[in-house]
Amino acid sequence: MSDNQAKIVVRDFSVFHGKLQSLRSLTMSIPAHRILGIIGPSGSGKTTFLRALNRLNDLSPETRAEGQAVLDGEDIYHPDYDVVRLRKRVGMLFALPVALPLSIYENVVYGPRLSGVRDRRRLADLVERSLKDAFLWDEVKDRLQTSGMRLSGGQQQRLCLARVLAMEQLEVILLDEPCSGLDPISTAKIEEALTLLKAKYTIVLVTNNTKQAARVADDTAFFLMGELVEYGVTQRLFTIPRDARTSDYVTGRFG
Ligand SMILES: Nc1ncnc2c1ncn2[C@@H]1O[C@H](COP(=O)(O)OP(=O)(O)OP(=O)(O)O)[C@@H](O)[C@H]1O
Ligand SMILES: [Mg+2]
Repeated sequence: MSDNQAKIVVRDFSVFHGKLQSLRSLTMSIPAHRILGIIGPSGSGKTTFLRALNRLNDLSPETRAEGQAVLDGEDIYHPDYDVVRLRKRVGMLFALPVALPLSIYENVVYGPRLSGVRDRRRLADLVERSLKDAFLWDEVKDRLQTSGMRLSGGQQQRLCLARVLAMEQLEVILLDEPCSGLDPISTAKIEEALTLLKAKYTIVLVTNNTKQAARVADDTAFFLMGELVEYGVTQRLFTIPRDARTSDYVTGRFG
């Protein structure tokens, strides 16, 4: 795949926390309208990579990035790059679903309200569309004014997804182990939602569950100790891995 079809390109990209290097000169292209699964053992740099794509690492003073990370042809680490705009285009969903202590409705419109959207009709439309896209609408449509915190864990995670989807400038969705701790039905709903959402967005899914990557990711990247060991079409990577370390990991022989 050539770089100009890619939504995101990283080149010789490294991240350091003080003296510790957690990403080692990664070079990879992430194509639009596909789901990239990132797998790898604990501490391999998966979360660091996601946070780097949205510049959340900026918030930790010890952390610095080197090399290039390019979104739609623009280097997101360029000093003139607008981080606020970046975070509107690149949304992130974390492992622990935490609904805000607000109604279901207000949880979804939180971002748009901060961006200054006031029009009631537009907000109501956003709520309906985002909750439908997150596969939650049918379960909550009759109680939008009740607290989001009263939902089950699986429902709260879909509410958090809806909150990300309500961002009107959203182009890229980063998910960090979004289904850890969720029951199989809630997990299936998130996976089904992602499979439909890739028509509109570019999706990067970090998962500790290799089976989940095999089920939903179009492409898979295997990280190990901050290195990108192997990256390719999921089906191929799982059936004929090129690197022995990938083979050990996907067959569960790792460690
Ligand atoms: N803010 C930080 N300060 C210091 N070290 C950090 C920081 N963030 C991450 N690290 C280190 O970077 C390495 C990679 O961490 P990261 O969280 O990216 O791993 P991970 O692949 O997401 O692991 P897990 O599967 O456990 O979530 C680890 O050694 C971690 O201790
Ligand atoms: Mg992590």
